[in-house]
Amino acid sequence: MSTKLAIDPRLAETLEAGAALPAEWYCDSNVLAHEKERIFHRSWQYVGHLGQAAQLGDFFTSTVGDIPVVITRSEDGKLRAFANVCRHRGSEVVLECSGNRKTLQCHYHGWTYNLDGSLRAAPHADEHPSFRKSEISLLALSAATWGPTIFVNPDPGAPPLDEITGTLGKSLADENAFESLRMLRRDIYQEAANWKIVIENFNECYHCPIAHPKLSRVIDVDEYAIDTSNEFFSTYRSPFRESRYRGLTYASLWPNAMLSAVSDPLMIQVMCAIPVDSDHSKVIFDYYLPDGASADVIRQNVEFSDLVQREDIALCESVQRGMRSRAIHQGRLMMPRERGVQHFQKLVYRHLSES
Ligand code: FES
Ligand SMILES: [Fe+2]
Repeated sequence: MSTKLAIDPRLAETLEAGAALPAEWYCDSNVLAHEKERIFHRSWQYVGHLGQAAQLGDFFTSTVGDIPVVITRSEDGKLRAFANVCRHRGSEVVLECSGNRKTLQCHYHGWTYNLDGSLRAAPHADEHPSFRKSEISLLALSAATWGPTIFVNPDPGAPPLDEITGTLGKSLADENAFESLRMLRRDIYQEAANWKIVIENFNECYHCPIAHPKLSRVIDVDEYAIDTSNEFFSTYRSPFRESRYRGLTYASLWPNAMLSAVSDPLMIQVMCAIPVDSDHSKVIFDYYLPDGASADVIRQNVEFSDLVQREDIALCESVQRGMRSRAIHQGRLMMPRERGVQHFQKLVYRHLSES
């Protein structure tokens, strides 16, 4: 359990005026404990794509905040999510990343669960007079889809996912185009940076002319339209300088999903920053491309994105060292170019300061 977080009563006002969140919020394990309770245990988080749970019996595992989760396509055809934590003594039930099974059997003592989470069998349960397997099931979480993507929320009473995504689908792609994409590749990056630094870096292209020379030759980073009018997401767009593509849109979806979309033909990258500890993050990087995209198209996408991603990792890790030094108390944002960063930081502040 986290200890109470002391928040400067003037913080809301200074954020509004363009100051950044306090440096210690990026390297304090107590702040991360609060974020887990108030953000990651209560919000919709990206876990994967529909192709991972297309057939009856399909399952795959993921992590939401610090909760191991398993997503199943149960016999009734329903997409379900559970804490991948055995009700016996707390082991993770399945260790594999994915598969197709009729049941999920815990690898420790063999308790076996149906794909709807109910306990089907436990070895030697007949020797325990008061054991009622009908009273035991995996902890159910909320699961929902958005286009071809799957999101999970640990809070069973959470508002529907579409209250969070709102009109974002329409601003990324023409209707039905997002649904038609397939996730064709996943890369995972480990970063020595707090998860918020990863999201904030994604939320602005103020750094692009200096830090991404190749990207800046492709997109016109001076023509930069930011939209922070939505409650739970912000977007910015840049036109391509000379290309067959129409434009590039970046979107940051509360709390930890990041999307980039090019149009004609539509290709979307979905990224998700998962906190490992206050100073480290795991970033999932999924490529959604038209079904049947050639190996060449996939390779070009991956090579270019990996180059930009490695430049970004160096930036984020450098910011983390600066935050940890305590030589800076609060940064100052360059408005309006960093309005997306402010939008995100105000949401963090709101969630951590709510009683
Ligand atoms: S912890 Fe799962 S069967 Fe014992
Ligand atoms: Fe960048």
